[in-house]
Amino acid sequence: MFSKEIYEKRREILKKNVSSGLLIFIGNTEMPMNFADNTFPFRQDSSFLYYFGISEPGLAAVIDLDTDETIIFGDELSIDAIVWMGRQETIQSKAEKSGVHNRKDFWKLSDYLKTAKDKSQKIHILPPYSAAQRLKLSELIGCSILEVDTYVSESFIKAIVKQRSIKQPEEIEEIEKAVNVSNEMHLLAMRMAKPGIKEYQLVSAIEKFAVDNECRFSYPAIMTIRGEILHNHFRMNTLKEGDMVLNDSGVETALGYAGDLTRTFPASKKFNSTQKDFYNIVLKAFEDSHSIMKPGLNYKEVHRTAALRLVEGLTDLGLLKGNPEEALANNVHTLFFQCGVGHMMGLDVHDMENLGEQYVGYTQDNPKDTKTFGWKSLRLGRPLEEGFVVTVEPGIYVIPELIDIWKAENKLKDFINYEEVEKHKNFGGIRIEDNFLITKDGFRRLGKGLIKTVDEIEELRSLGF
Ligand code: GLY
Ligand code: MN
Ligand code: MN
Repeated sequence: MFSKEIYEKRREILKKNVSSGLLIFIGNTEMPMNFADNTFPFRQDSSFLYYFGISEPGLAAVIDLDTDETIIFGDELSIDAIVWMGRQETIQSKAEKSGVHNRKDFWKLSDYLKTAKDKSQKIHILPPYSAAQRLKLSELIGCSILEVDTYVSESFIKAIVKQRSIKQPEEIEEIEKAVNVSNEMHLLAMRMAKPGIKEYQLVSAIEKFAVDNECRFSYPAIMTIRGEILHNHFRMNTLKEGDMVLNDSGVETALGYAGDLTRTFPASKKFNSTQKDFYNIVLKAFEDSHSIMKPGLNYKEVHRTAALRLVEGLTDLGLLKGNPEEALANNVHTLFFQCGVGHMMGLDVHDMENLGEQYVGYTQDNPKDTKTFGWKSLRLGRPLEEGFVVTVEPGIYVIPELIDIWKAENKLKDFINYEEVEKHKNFGGIRIEDNFLITKDGFRRLGKGLIKTVDEIEELRSLGF
């Protein structure tokens, strides 16, 4: 945990940003895999972590804005539990470390909320993202499962998003720790990979590295020779000469702060010439798009710049044709770049995604394009502010099924040289991803930096095997 003053200060700021009522935080519970006592690894809710810092299942917290009371609800271990689990630090003691002196048994929360309802006190909750949370809220508030949504509070969400979006020095330090461990993890994969090895062997090696460094994956690693499949979690392929490996992996620290990096490298010692051409297009898109970031710049421009560089590069290679600006205006880039160029990052790898993209990534003046293929997958499309932490991750994804459909429709034929595209239909995918802090004058890359040019990668690969 951070010092208790940090959590106290965070809660003081939150209190000033919501006018009245009860702010309810539902911590996460253990989630069974196949029977109650055999659970998935526990991960605390990130807003609970942000305001209370306690990574322990089965807790809830209330900030009563009307009485200025803060309470943590959670049960101390019974002797039966101690027999099986041993003595643990009490919840009371953990609560004190978070600056909260008032702990009550969990069942009392229900009475607390009932009294609040009877007094017509406003109850603010955050959008539930699991069935367990929804059920718990329904029971605690005394309403139907569907009615729970009527208690979701926009003012509560907006106050949290406003606060969590601007990373404080202690958070940046944690994120940077995560990025540095993630860097090393990527180097390990790049050194280990060779023809004959399985994707899952690389994943197990990097996961061990994460755990050895008191971290864990911040999301399931994507380690694949089929990099065009955006969220590819299949890991049974064997690397062979001529493949490229896309490694999208990152760790979170013990306090929950994430890193999120992607590198793509040849399974052989060197890229072949087509791979090199495509790789350098993505690299240019990466360099030119992230380097314009500064407070006030709409992140949509980062996406647009990346997309334009991809179109220009693919036009030079002969896969696209015509004027690149015009091609971009017609969304030609989405044949190769179907997703967004990045997102916010912090206590969640896609920071605060559970609170709603319309609040985190967009504003009233900058609404999301929810319809256009490609643009609808952009998670962030608002002006950047000092203190934001974001990823930048352009890529080229050659998806045969998508090409077949577009080609059959002769879609955007004035901009696409289908004959040339056809020749590269089994090319695969490339992504390059780093993490950045938006500073007063521009941006700072987080972490010590990870190799990314063709020469740097080939030099490391030549030492490997
Ligand atoms: N690792 C998921 C992403 O890059 O967004
Ligand atoms: Mn990633
Ligand atoms: Mn990412």
